[in-house]
Amino acid sequence: MKVLFATSEAHPLAKTGGLADVSGALPAALQDVGVDARVLMPAYPSALEKAENISRVFRIKLPEHGETSLLRGAFPGNGVPVYLIEHDGYYGRKGLYQDESARDWPDNAMRFGLLSQFAAWLAGPKTPLDFKPDVLHCNDWQTGLAPAFLRYESAKPTPTVFTVHNLAYQGIFPPDVLKKLGLPPESFSIDGMEYYGKLSFLKAGLYYASHLTTVSPTYAGEIQTEAFGMGMQGLLATRGNELTGILNGIDMREWNPVSDPHLYAPYSADNLAGKTTNKLSLQAELGLQSDAKAPLLGMVSRLTHQKGSDVVIEAVPQLIKLGAQFAVLGSGETRLENAWRKLAAAHPGRIAVKIGYNESLCHRIEAGADIFLMPSRFEPCGLNQMYSQRYGTPPVVHKVGGLADTVTHATLENLANGKATGFVLDRLDRTSLVDALGRAMILFRHKLAWQKLMRNGMTRDFGWAQSARQYLGVYKKICRA
Ligand code: ADP
Ligand code: GLC
Repeated sequence: MKVLFATSEAHPLAKTGGLADVSGALPAALQDVGVDARVLMPAYPSALEKAENISRVFRIKLPEHGETSLLRGAFPGNGVPVYLIEHDGYYGRKGLYQDESARDWPDNAMRFGLLSQFAAWLAGPKTPLDFKPDVLHCNDWQTGLAPAFLRYESAKPTPTVFTVHNLAYQGIFPPDVLKKLGLPPESFSIDGMEYYGKLSFLKAGLYYASHLTTVSPTYAGEIQTEAFGMGMQGLLATRGNELTGILNGIDMREWNPVSDPHLYAPYSADNLAGKTTNKLSLQAELGLQSDAKAPLLGMVSRLTHQKGSDVVIEAVPQLIKLGAQFAVLGSGETRLENAWRKLAAAHPGRIAVKIGYNESLCHRIEAGADIFLMPSRFEPCGLNQMYSQRYGTPPVVHKVGGLADTVTHATLENLANGKATGFVLDRLDRTSLVDALGRAMILFRHKLAWQKLMRNGMTRDFGWAQSARQYLGVYKKICRA
């Protein structure tokens, strides 16, 4: 089975969020189950810097885009082959999707139109490569046009999988983009990629792909409803039989407190002593009061409406009264960044806030915090709650999407039978959050019970093996069809 995995970001070459973690780990897991998986993505400056053994495959002048090259290289670490599309005018800048002021690049339609076109070309009958994919696996709106290009090019197109990582980002552009990218006018239809008079890359993926997947079973059900479907619920429900929820895994080597180079001290389920060292060192690093007993709440996220940090902000005064400390890392919407900055200024020594993107600090917060906060309004899968369980930092989450599928609530029964790994809110509002954290902080003071909860999470298998087998099952099915 040969699979071309098209994505707009992949760790460690380029990353803004969880899509990169998945694209950096799933292809390697697919190789472990016998799939020849290769990645296709743009040659951003960071990717050119970090990919290994880069060589040029060919150079071409495209009518819509001009001079473009295809490079070949490999991921550092796991050696997965990667094809990089080099186009300086499109990708030779800092910021994958946005400029420094968080404004979308004005030419995103052309930038990701090119990615989609290349994906379809390299996976289709006219590929110039000797690698002939059986399946093209596309991810999110940035690759959404690829299944459409394939469909209009051939009566028997290469089968495609389109994975939804987040329905909130829909790649919506003016209709004239269609012509600029050389798509036929008939594709601009309600049975096609038209969406309320505009062109939607996401809808193209949802409409034209042979099979759809999303990143957790619960989200697969949710997105067929009005509450979570973001306008696509109708189309998703009609394709319900061709939509599979496959839970993301995590890279168990990279996220391992025994060998994580970013930490102050290693630790494991059998030897938790190092966890306290990480907490005290994190407090010192962030200017928090040195206090092993104060429950330290950690949060790392994009500061957007999705992630619910506004609800945490509302709850801060009550949580501070309950004795909590906060370590917050994130960037995103200005109003949320400012609200967090203000709280940090008002509570020195109790609330530490770092605005920005910092991979190393992220690892130290996962390790040094006692409780991880992830009260997302919706969460297709979510990775941080899995990282935190692996790091012995029980998460407090809202019962949606992948959060519902990966965290087992600390009921008395689950605590007794060794299944509990965190705290799951049925409703997301200030009162429920304060209640849940109040309970969590009481349990935190019962050292043995808390350590049991930590160990339950730390010993769970969040690896990719099972998910990779499920993807292989989908590939086989669409190849037979
Ligand atoms: P999403 O993709 O919706 O942002 P996920 O939980 O799936 O959510 O993945 C987020 C990824 O991005 C995780 O690897 C997380 O650690 C990382 N991340 C998010 N914000 C930051 C930040 N400010 N600094 C470092 N890493 C971050
Ligand atoms: C998206 C989702 C997140 C998911 C990630 C990887 O960014 O918001 O829930 O974990 O993609 O699939």
